[in-house]
Amino acid sequence: MAARYQISGSTSASISASVESGIRAGALAPGDALPAVRTLAGELGVSPATVAKAYQELRQRGLVATAGRHGTRVRPRPPVATRRSALAPPPRPGTRNLSAGHPDPRLLPPLGPHLAALAAEVGPPSGYASAAVLPELAAVARDRFSVDGVPAAELTVTGGALDGIERLLAAHLRPGDAVAVEDPGWANLLDLVAALGLRTVGVPVDDEGPTEPGVRAALAAGVRALVVTSRAQNPTGAAVSAERAAALRTLLAGRADLLLIEDDHAAELARVPLHPLAGATPTWAFVRSVSKPYGPDLRLAVLAGDEATVARVAGRAQVGAGWVSTVLQRLVLSLWRDPATADLVRRAADSYDRRRDGLVAALATRGVAAHGRTGINVWVPVPDETAAVTALRDAGWSVAPGGLYRIAAAPAVRVTVSSLDDADLPALADALGRAAHPTRTPPFSA
Ligand SMILES: Cc1ncc(COP(=O)(O)O)c(C=O)c1O
Repeated sequence: MAARYQISGSTSASISASVESGIRAGALAPGDALPAVRTLAGELGVSPATVAKAYQELRQRGLVATAGRHGTRVRPRPPVATRRSALAPPPRPGTRNLSAGHPDPRLLPPLGPHLAALAAEVGPPSGYASAAVLPELAAVARDRFSVDGVPAAELTVTGGALDGIERLLAAHLRPGDAVAVEDPGWANLLDLVAALGLRTVGVPVDDEGPTEPGVRAALAAGVRALVVTSRAQNPTGAAVSAERAAALRTLLAGRADLLLIEDDHAAELARVPLHPLAGATPTWAFVRSVSKPYGPDLRLAVLAGDEATVARVAGRAQVGAGWVSTVLQRLVLSLWRDPATADLVRRAADSYDRRRDGLVAALATRGVAAHGRTGINVWVPVPDETAAVTALRDAGWSVAPGGLYRIAAAPAVRVTVSSLDDADLPALADALGRAAHPTRTPPFSA
């Protein structure tokens, strides 16, 4: 067992929950041995029967296996039952919910007119033999990629960014392999990596993306894949700068042992230029979701990459889900081609920029160095997340504790600006300022 992970608990349920959380966080890797029942019972001050019951529960749920004198070990692909996001305290009724990380529904394009137009023009239904990536959709996606300097001779369509990333990791890595992820990074990706039985290696992020020393250290640790968020990094808002992209491209050049994945989930919503790493390594993929600009329910992303990588993702899809519905592909194509939708997405991007920049500036005047270069979130360093989340809730704001997104990064809270109004900023910034500097003495007043 990894020496650093200390199982805790005083009942069988809390002991099994502690083991599960170690697996989910990657501190207990597939194949790691759990302590012998009597040893753990002695450490925790509980009876061996309590620990035996906890191990039995974990066995029944498929998280661990017991093999005679080899003891109890974490299974190769443990099904992790709960998600990081499930650990978040539910937003308190009556507070403003700034914890969700969702786009503002008021700024998503209305689908009704596009669905009505499709109903009028769509031909006979596509069948198993004829359905695939729509050539018209691929052509528009290719044009969009080429404007941004992403080579897209080969591309396919997946059911969202996470679906594409799952297929990529499953096709290239084996349980126990290590994946370099941004720290802090997207909670759903951390969950996915754990659920695939892979290990995470955190790479520190600053406002310009994953740091060069961080990526270097992850490579030295033997990671088999690296996932980089191009823009609107969740939760910090980082965007890969031209300088950072150049440094990382040099570092990664020719690494044939590494799968490089880029996630450009903000796409049109990010108003900073894209600086892709695509093609720096022989094995790479660039995934662009439509969730943030056009709506999460569309469940569609386009994935470009080297020929073999795209073929593996598309080939695996063929023996599974098959393809992304052509009805959905036609809907996305209709949105992409509509000038009014493009205008709405531009206005949404402006609106998020204004609110995010406004909050970061309001915090700066209160002595708080928050992060939020792009996207819909602001990352606010605090000394104590639990105290900060609780104090903010008492002040009427629900925010997300940074623990959902961090491995070793410093504590913080994530504030989603998508539902904020300009008028909210002073009161919110005051409450965040107090959470960031809880011990600061208030100024004297006459
Ligand atoms: C970093 C990141 N990537 C991708 C997505 C969107 O993923 P999907 O396309 O699966 O909806 C999100 C949504 O929050 C995200 O934060």
